[in-house]
Amino acid sequence: MTSSSQTSRGSWGSKIAFIFAASGSAIGLGSIWRFPLMVGLNGGAIFVFVYILAVFFIGFPVMLAELTIGRHTQRNPVGAFKAIKPGTPWKLVGYMGVLTGIFILSYYSVVAGWAFGYFYKTLFGVFRGEVTWELSDRIFSTFAANPLEVLFCLFIIIGLTTFVISKGVKGGIERWSKILMPLLFALIIFLAIRALTLTGAGEGLAFYLKPDLTKLNPKVFFFAVGQAFFSLSLGMGTMMTYGSYISKRDNLVSSAGWVCFSTTLVAFLAGIIIFPTLSATNNLQGLKVGTGLMFQVFPLIISKLPGGYLFGLLFFVLLLVAALTSTISLLEVPTAFLVDEHNWPREKAAIFVGALSFLLGIPSALSNGAVTWATQANIMMKMDLIFGNIMLAVGGLFITLFLAYSWGITRALQEISFGNKSFRLKPLWIFNIKFLAPLAIILILVFIRILTQQ
Ligand code: PHE
Repeated sequence: MTSSSQTSRGSWGSKIAFIFAASGSAIGLGSIWRFPLMVGLNGGAIFVFVYILAVFFIGFPVMLAELTIGRHTQRNPVGAFKAIKPGTPWKLVGYMGVLTGIFILSYYSVVAGWAFGYFYKTLFGVFRGEVTWELSDRIFSTFAANPLEVLFCLFIIIGLTTFVISKGVKGGIERWSKILMPLLFALIIFLAIRALTLTGAGEGLAFYLKPDLTKLNPKVFFFAVGQAFFSLSLGMGTMMTYGSYISKRDNLVSSAGWVCFSTTLVAFLAGIIIFPTLSATNNLQGLKVGTGLMFQVFPLIISKLPGGYLFGLLFFVLLLVAALTSTISLLEVPTAFLVDEHNWPREKAAIFVGALSFLLGIPSALSNGAVTWATQANIMMKMDLIFGNIMLAVGGLFITLFLAYSWGITRALQEISFGNKSFRLKPLWIFNIKFLAPLAIILILVFIRILTQQ
């Protein structure tokens, strides 16, 4: 790489700027929508417990690995593998990440579209007054089953994301998210306190925090590791791309630590809101957990706040911003790949990938009640299983193997040492990258077979 390409790339203004941008990618629907859904589907507290272990022992090491490779090569994922090991098949891991990004963007944008729909529904007063579970459930099912409305929302989300990426106005969004993300965080804490003080919150809290060991099975590990990758934006090169803009003076270890911590905290609080609200409104027992969980529950708790209308509006705007900072990071990887590796103009690349994701998102958008075959085939959850769980985990596996056995731990440690003088977790990180993370991922992927047989 020439020094001119290094200088022309630019970098985050400061370590804090990087942490905000990377947390913007990580914190989104993964923590607020997908995490409670996974908890509900996988036995409650036991999932929460395994998820936190997965973040610490697998998520954090892989994040540090991605940031290190990214900062060292200053490239998109495909270019990064090509730069370190030219002429080898390792670049296929980068290609896999690019494809995974396009597929995740497709169904992720459907859910982001729901957040947009909920924003204008709240604005128009659909949730005014006391909201019961029956009402909330009916509003969600009617909305998700309306083909034109969900496709319109999907179009808006992909359109906005494409606009931001093609115009290169990401910086503007990041400046905004520096104000809006802390606001979202404050609102979530507020809602969590409200949920905890509802009468009948205890049962939901117990479901969420008191592990039932009989519920522990391979599925829990599989989905917990998948959730760790998904929520931390790992396994497809997003963090490599973000890492490519970090300056040599900044500390990669503590940056990775902050991103993991803040994302996990938001996910944890989302669960604190959902499950106590469910038990307090007598809906925990016998609940059929589905993709609408978050959208069914948040209006309930918001309606229990004085000034619920304004809080609702604020919440869905902020959720939308959180989702957009994630869709932007998803679109950035394939766009940067086409721009850097194939010399496409940025605008053309963004529009091409955006249009492709829109088309790929249509079946998912229609799979929540709008079209019978798509709903029966459960397309959205299948896409999420394949791309959000399996492909990210496979990507993460190859990234650890690449770092440990091809590029080499010593060289990686040298890169990490810039901006970090005392890497206290070093022995643990080396052990995790070399053995624990790859072995754990291989094991859980083997368990998919067991899973599909169940
Ligand atoms: N981490 C994002 C979220 O939780 C989703 C994402 C996954 C973004 C993979 C980029 C890459 O909302």
